[in-house]
Parts: sequence; C-alpha cells; structure tokens
Amino acid sequence: ERKVKVGLLGLGTVGTGVARIIAGHQEELRNQTSSQIEIAKVLVREPEKKRQIELDRNLITTRADDLLMDPEIDVIVEVMGGIHPTKQYLLKALEQGKHVVTANKDLMALHGAEILHKAREMNCDVYYEASVAGGIPILRALMDSFSSDRVTRIMGIVNGTTNYILSKMSREGAGYEEVLKEAQALGYAEADPSSDVGGLDAARKMVILSTLGFHSPVSLEDVDVQGIESVSREDIAYAKKMGYEMKLLGVAAHDQDGIEICVQPALVARSHPLASVHGVFNAVYVYGEAVGETMFYGPGAGELPTATSVVSDLVSVVKNMNLGVNGRSVVKPYREKKLKGDAQ
Ligand code: NAP
Ligand code: HSE
Repeated sequence: ERKVKVGLLGLGTVGTGVARIIAGHQEELRNQTSSQIEIAKVLVREPEKKRQIELDRNLITTRADDLLMDPEIDVIVEVMGGIHPTKQYLLKALEQGKHVVTANKDLMALHGAEILHKAREMNCDVYYEASVAGGIPILRALMDSFSSDRVTRIMGIVNGTTNYILSKMSREGAGYEEVLKEAQALGYAEADPSSDVGGLDAARKMVILSTLGFHSPVSLEDVDVQGIESVSREDIAYAKKMGYEMKLLGVAAHDQDGIEICVQPALVARSHPLASVHGVFNAVYVYGEAVGETMFYGPGAGELPTATSVVSDLVSVVKNMNLGVNGRSVVKPYREKKLKGDAQ
C-alpha cells in the first residue's frame, strides 16, 4: 500500500476540518485511493494556540520549509489563506514537485494563471474546488460535466457570510453588526470580513467561475463589484413587503459581444428558487447552450463542507499519482478575453 504524506498549511476552520476528515474517513480514503493518506506536518503561526482538534505536537511547525522542502511530503494542502507568503509557498512546493490542493480564492483569482503555469511545467496537480462555494462541486462541474458545452451564463449566491447576514436580517429582523459577528464566530467569514461584505470575495469567485466556464482569462478588474454594506434593515423589510428577498448575486454572461461580470445586491422575487437559499447556503446557476439551465446548491462555507471539497481534491491527486497522470487536469483558458464594451 502506498503511503501519501500531506503537508498542511494552516489549522484554522478549514484545516481542522481537513484533519478531522483525514482521521475519520480513513476507510473511504483507503478504498478510493488504495493508499494510506496521512498528515506529516502542519504549519501554523501560533504553535501554542488552543486548537479545536488534538494533533501530535510534533507535527506542528512554524517553519514553512519543514513542509515545502521535506522530500517525503507528496502533497501540500493550503488552507492558510492570503496572498503573501502563500503564493511563494505554493510556487516553492510546485518547484519541489509537490502537488497542491488549495481553498484559496484570493490567490487563484489573482495569481491562478502563474500557479497553474508552474504546475504544468512541473507535471504537478493543482486542485482548488473549495475556493468557490465551499461544499458545492461547481468547479468539477464546469471543468468536466460541461466540457462539451458552450456556457453562456453563470449566476448565483457565492458568498455564505453575506447570505447568512441577509437571511438573518430578513427572517429575524436581526442587526447587521451582530449577525456579522455570528458569521465570524461560525468560521464562515474571511480573516478580513470586509472582503465578504464588500463583495470582493464573491467577485474573486466569479473570476474563477468565469475563467473556467468561458475558457477566457478573466481578471478581477473585469468585475463590477458592489457589496452589502449600505443595505439597511429597512431596505430588506420593504423588499420583503413587496414580495422580494435581498441577495448578493454574482452574474457572469458571455455572448458574441463579449463577457460581462458583476456582483451586486439584488431583489429576487420570492417565487424564484434563489429567494429560498438561506443562511450559509450558496446556489449557482449554470446555463449552457446545449444543456440549458442547471442549478447547484449546498453549503457555501464552514469547516466540514469546505474540508470535504479539499479532501476530495486530495483523493483526486492520489488517484492521479497511482495512474501516473499528474498535471493533466491543469487546463489553460483557450479563448481570448473580450469584454462587453471593448472596442471592436
Ligand atoms: P483561518 O481559520 O483563519 O485559519 C488560517 C490558518 O492558517 C490558521 O491556523 C493560521 O495559524 C494559519 N496561518 C495563517 N497565516 C499564516 C502564516 N503566514 N504562516 C503560518 N500559518 C498561517 O482560515 P480558514 O477560515 O480556515 O480559511 C482558510 C482558507 O480557506 C482561506 O483561503 C479561505 O478563503 C478559504 N476558505 C474558507 C472557508 C470557510 O468556510 N472558512 C470556505 C472556503 C474557503 P494560527 O492558527 O496559528 O493563527
Ligand atoms: N468567506 C467565504 C464565504 C468562505 O462566506 O462564502 C467561503 O468561501
């Protein structure tokens, strides 16, 4: 039986979930991969911090090279977040021939092309399912299930924190600040929650979805972004009275005139399925020319749903290792980017 050693960057909300699933689902992992997957080292900032999970103290380190330069470690699972030093760590891991699984949409939206380029060069895998919509397998769907189709539109609720806030304000009349604190305590919000409420987190996810769905190198500047900071309890109550729910929606469209992407608070008629997506749940519609309309629904954030996507990516990496086909799933956008409104 092959032993696969994992270096875990980060042991916060998602990292704890990853460690729990690897420990608790050994039978599933072994049956899927014919391998024994184990965490060999964990990078944190504060080694003495009280954790939600008990791990052998010898596994914990504050030196990234203990993982990145360890020849025995096959896969780096990055759940520490942020751009720096995370980007340098992942590039270093790939240079060492290690495969990467990440939940980091900030990094993949801004520097995905560079990371994927390095992965291709090194015949390494980079999987990042958890970076968009937590536990919903939406990137796999775009990369695999719609690969024969022409995707024309991607739309939905892709931020759990704001949906949690708007739902609680609408259903319970709760105050914005108080619900934001709850979302932080539940581990849904980003380290800097202004990226959730300001729409940036959703915009980054729309960049990843559009790049994969439209096969074009979309960037963050292409997204028109508005958050929910200025949405008041009164706005929500008024919308409700008129038969609408306030939702932070990401919308991306692609036709012969080009691509258009935005993130903004929108009034959704109560009869529309998106109006019933409450709490931390996300929902993403994908429209394909041939397939028509499809909808993906599930938990958009939180420890175990997000960790499920991460560990399933890890399973894909190990299956590829067994077949000797790492690096083949790393695809490149093949259409030139054309934005709506660009000069002809
Ligand atoms: P978190 O709870 O803040 O955990 C971050 C972990 O990384 C902590 O253990 C922290 O160490 C460690 N860390 C951060 N910066 C570090 C550094 N420079 N050097 C060493 N260790 C460092 O974050 P999270 O919520 O798990 O999110 C992690 C990633 O997953 C982010 O990219 C986030 O966007 C993404 N994500 C999160 C969710 C979610 O529901 N939370 C869902 C999808 C994707 P200490 O513990 O010592 O401070
Ligand atoms: N902060 C993010 C959210 C985490 O609330 O959706 C999941 O990406």
